[in-house]
Amino acid sequence: MVKKASKNKMWGGRFSLDSSKLLQNVNSSIEFDYKLFEVDVEASIAHTQMLAHCKIITKKDSSLIISGLKRIRNQFQSGNFKLDKELEDIHMNIESKLQKDIGDTAGRLHTARSRNDQVATDLRLYIRKKNSHIADEITLLQIALTNKAEENYKTIMPGFTHMQTAQPITMGHHLLAYVEMLSRDKGRIIDCNNRLNESPLGSGALSGTSFPINRKMTAKTLGFDNPMRNSLDAVSSRDFVLETMSSIAICSVHLSRLAEEIILWLSDGFNFISLPDDLTTGSSIMPQKKNPDLAELVRGKSGRLIGSLITMLVVMKGLPLAYSKDLQEDKEPTFDALDNILLCLQSMTSMIKNMVPNIDNMNNASSRQFSTATDLADWLVQNLNIPFRSAHQITGEIVSKCIKDDMNLDKMELEVLKQFDKRITKDIYNVLNTEKSVNRKNSEGGTSPRNVKKSASYWKKRLKDEE
Ligand code: ARG
Repeated sequence: MVKKASKNKMWGGRFSLDSSKLLQNVNSSIEFDYKLFEVDVEASIAHTQMLAHCKIITKKDSSLIISGLKRIRNQFQSGNFKLDKELEDIHMNIESKLQKDIGDTAGRLHTARSRNDQVATDLRLYIRKKNSHIADEITLLQIALTNKAEENYKTIMPGFTHMQTAQPITMGHHLLAYVEMLSRDKGRIIDCNNRLNESPLGSGALSGTSFPINRKMTAKTLGFDNPMRNSLDAVSSRDFVLETMSSIAICSVHLSRLAEEIILWLSDGFNFISLPDDLTTGSSIMPQKKNPDLAELVRGKSGRLIGSLITMLVVMKGLPLAYSKDLQEDKEPTFDALDNILLCLQSMTSMIKNMVPNIDNMNNASSRQFSTATDLADWLVQNLNIPFRSAHQITGEIVSKCIKDDMNLDKMELEVLKQFDKRITKDIYNVLNTEKSVNRKNSEGGTSPRNVKKSASYWKKRLKDEE
């Protein structure tokens, strides 16, 4: 007597029991992998065309399958596709719907294909598209930073080391530092796309297939550079996810640093910038508050983005070849990271565009804490030919005198300065104010307004090309 089979039409043949509810709950990925819908259909169409081209299925069946898939895509796009948890994942949801719509011919779609090469292909297509979007958003943020830098090429602010006032810098210089970091972030993301652009499709479950398929054809249709060379590698590698997650994590760390600075600059102690009301929030108890929640969330989200990378690294570690279901755990952290880095980039762009510098406050703060002391030491070296270490020592003593007398460096009497070295002349005052200090920082990559102006126009031109 033939045993009663499980209801599962995709793989139920050898089972006599249906999956338990618990298994269904743990096993099902449709709640999140529905995001692969579009790329799954795209890859299925390419696969079907190839099957017909290679005479593995008839032209007639191929047209029926493809028009069915396109109809399903329209239904999905108009919100009329019902996802069924019992059908596990997006691949089986689509195939089962096709079966309902066109009957048994649907069963030919999965010829010479496994969900293992299918999902690996889908994920590459999905990440590729998102990565280009991320690269575009990075460019928009770079443009916003460059414009703000250009407007503020000679706005003076304190530069910090150890979070202590160190030397005066220009705000434009500070903002352009992030343009540089973001440019490397973009390079990494583009690099991910270059490397992931190979097709796993046609690798089957793990060992390839006995059907006379044409992998070059599907690779080309889907915009991949070439088919992957090794079927085991193709179905089980996720280093393209790891690379993307790590590039995103690094970018999020850069955004988090900038967010932290925005938070500091907005704080009462600094008061360097303001943000418009529509980018800040209020407090439910303290009516006077205006809080930088948007910047705080960009800072906070770097935590989950770094978390996505760690999740993926740990999922992959210890996985033998080839496919194991652990790999289904790649999707949630990946989708979450891709969506959230986009949100962070967009948030940052709008804060940078709309921030208004409080130029006077920045300027005043930049002359506090003897910020031009290095300029004084340099003057001693350049004009009196004193070795830098001795100049450092003398300047330290002058600063100590200033602290004792509660006086700024540029307010010290020449007579008092002469007590430290009688060769000091009034020319020294030329380097003691912050404006003169930044103007003199003309070394390559230095903070002078002249350099910043040049840098900003370099970036404007370059970003126009990259747009
Ligand atoms: N939903 C699965 C995943 O995301 C698809 C591949 C299933 N393959 C299998 N052999 N059960 O990884």
